[in-house]
Amino acid sequence: MIEVQQLWNGITIPMIGFGTYKITEKGAAYEAVTKALMAGYRHIDTAAFYDNEGEVGRAVRDFVTSGQADREDLFITSKVWKTENQYDLVMQSFDHTMQRLGLDYLDLYLVHWPSSPSFDEQWETTNQEVWRAMIDLYKSGRVKAIGVSNFLPHHLDTIMDMEVIPMVDQIEINPGFMQQDTIDYCKAHDIRIEAWSPLGRGRSLAHPLIQKLAATYGKSPAQIILRWELQHDIIVLPKSVNEERIIENKAIWDFALTPEDMARMDALAPYGNSGHSPD
Ligand code: A2P
Repeated sequence: MIEVQQLWNGITIPMIGFGTYKITEKGAAYEAVTKALMAGYRHIDTAAFYDNEGEVGRAVRDFVTSGQADREDLFITSKVWKTENQYDLVMQSFDHTMQRLGLDYLDLYLVHWPSSPSFDEQWETTNQEVWRAMIDLYKSGRVKAIGVSNFLPHHLDTIMDMEVIPMVDQIEINPGFMQQDTIDYCKAHDIRIEAWSPLGRGRSLAHPLIQKLAATYGKSPAQIILRWELQHDIIVLPKSVNEERIIENKAIWDFALTPEDMARMDALAPYGNSGHSPD
């Protein structure tokens, strides 16, 4: 397995990214992102909604300024929140994101949630209008790649005829919650899948099968889960504020789950999502 993938437009993306959701306490995101960069993460995932873009950006800039990496070696993602669902609002929100991050360009910009029939009668045209803004940002060169998050096949369908299709769909994936329909749809269209909450916000770690595999492979439960996702070709975005775990979550390249153990993990009883559904 290799540590990076190519998006369909040729941009390279590291398979392991550092998630920053819920790291909002003052100073915490700066500290966590700095630890992650020091531990070798080169892919950092934030969002306007996470309320930490300022600290994430400062950590990235300080790391670059100190000469420990070139900006071009880092892959930084942010997302536009669902209330910003008109062309001009997306443009404005992007400007605010870039001001907070203090960066010249973004590697990946995502639509955080789709509009859905259950809460927006015009959901199809809303998705198209938002996506039109994303295309224009991409064409402007301020964003190297664009994508969506939490889009299921019927949401993706609304924008697949447009001039540029998404390079990424970031969805919730964890043991017992694989979202296979969306994965199959994305594979068929060369859209890369990223997993948010790849550890199920920690809920999967105590599962007996995962505990057993951890003992067999001499790895932690988190490493077993992340490795299972990687072997499914899924980009993972584990979040932690704990230095040991930050390091642990990245140390998953020196072992491989057998096809039998992959199948055991795949067969875990459906767990359901963490509560947020796009519809
Ligand atoms: P903490 O930040 O205290 O380390 P997810 O990425 O699926 O949303 O999961 C994040 C949750 O899992 C956080 O509560 C985080 O807690 C915890 N976590 C992250 N990495 C590990 C790990 N290697 N072992 C145990 N818990 C972890």
